Amino acid sequence: MNGLERDGLPRADVPSAFDTEARWYDRLVGANPGYHEHLRLSARRLGLPADTRGLRLLDAGCGTGASTAALLSVAPGARITAFDASGEMLARARAKTWPATVGFVHTPVEELSDVEGPFDAVFASYLLRNLADPTGQLRRLRRLLRPGGRIAVHEYSVQDSRRARWTWNAVCAGVIIPLGRLTTGDATLYRHLRRSVLGFDGLGALTQRLHDAGFTDVRTGTVAGWQRDIVHTVLGTNPPETS
Ligand SMILES: C[S@@+](CC[C@H](N)C(=O)[O-])C[C@H]1O[C@@H](n2cnc3c(N)ncnc32)[C@H](O)[C@@H]1O
Repeated sequence: MNGLERDGLPRADVPSAFDTEARWYDRLVGANPGYHEHLRLSARRLGLPADTRGLRLLDAGCGTGASTAALLSVAPGARITAFDASGEMLARARAKTWPATVGFVHTPVEELSDVEGPFDAVFASYLLRNLADPTGQLRRLRRLLRPGGRIAVHEYSVQDSRRARWTWNAVCAGVIIPLGRLTTGDATLYRHLRRSVLGFDGLGALTQRLHDAGFTDVRTGTVAGWQRDIVHTVLGTNPPETS
């Protein structure tokens, strides 16, 4: 059994599952306490300079733009390119009000057509777990960074903590899957969420993955609230000597 079968939703089908669920996405994540605040925390952890004019930022897997808004909140002067493989998620993002410095591109991370670096920072929020080759795509994103540029991976990781796994299972069974089914009439994506998180890297493996993709100075931090030790920021730097 490979990882895709174990999670119940082949990775190639994930963007189209998001297409189907796009209209519910903002409502459901809005019901998750701390969702937007945690995205802003991870964006702040990129450690961008106070004056963000002239910076170029990339939001990888931007969905409906929640992570793009988090980036914009910490870097109002930056130019932000946000991409996603789901046309419907992207349509929701584009329909929001953005400054002219924010642009959206429809592409899977595996292709990245019309996305050209170098960027000063990359934000990848809740993307990595959905990919068939996370290390390969991390490497691809690193090559888009300027030397010394940073990535913030914002992701669920419960494998290394029994308490985190227990809490995650309980919240999925008691809240996320029933609420997803009630709201959308179909629990496929929410069951995928539960299983893909359970099947994804522990924090140690995720840290190693960033190293394997060529990042240095890899650091982690978690968030507050019920998602403590469940949601993490993993930061990495594109070493200054590579380009
Ligand atoms: C859970 S959403 C996260 C959206 C946003 N970053 C946020 O924090 O709300 C995951 C997004 O990753 C996108 N995605 C999944 N696989 C992808 C791929 N191979 N390339 C680009 N985007 C992908 C999905 O379409 C979806 O919009």
